[in-house]
Amino acid sequence: MAPGFVDSTVLLGHVVENRIEGDVVECGVARGGSSALMALVLRALSSDKSVWAFDTFEGIPGQPSKTLITRLPTYTPVNSTRS
Ligand SMILES: C[S@@+](CC[C@H](N)C(=O)[O-])C[C@H]1O[C@@H](n2cnc3c(N)ncnc32)[C@H](O)[C@@H]1O
Repeated sequence: MAPGFVDSTVLLGHVVENRIEGDVVECGVARGGSSALMALVLRALSSDKSVWAFDTFEGIPGQPSKTLITRLPTYTPVNSTRS
């Protein structure tokens, strides 16, 4: 399974285990695969949280301008588990 999917299920486990209030919101759901998976995980964890799914359905906006890219700070990832 793709890392992003695994991450969301682990995060949901943390949210439910620690009784963190509120529902779950995914912005940019595309065809809703991640939202559906999260809903299934919440059901399996006996959570009554709702999953709210949003999308413009207009695709991903173009790359930011070169000017914007040069203004972004740089960082060095630490303790990354992804290759
Ligand atoms: C890579 S797809 C999302 C994949 C999905 N999250 C998944 O895990 O399967 C990106 C989606 O974000 C949507 N999108 C892009 N900009 C957006 C915005 N400003 N607000 C909401 N949705 C947006 C696009 O329409 C597209 O469907």
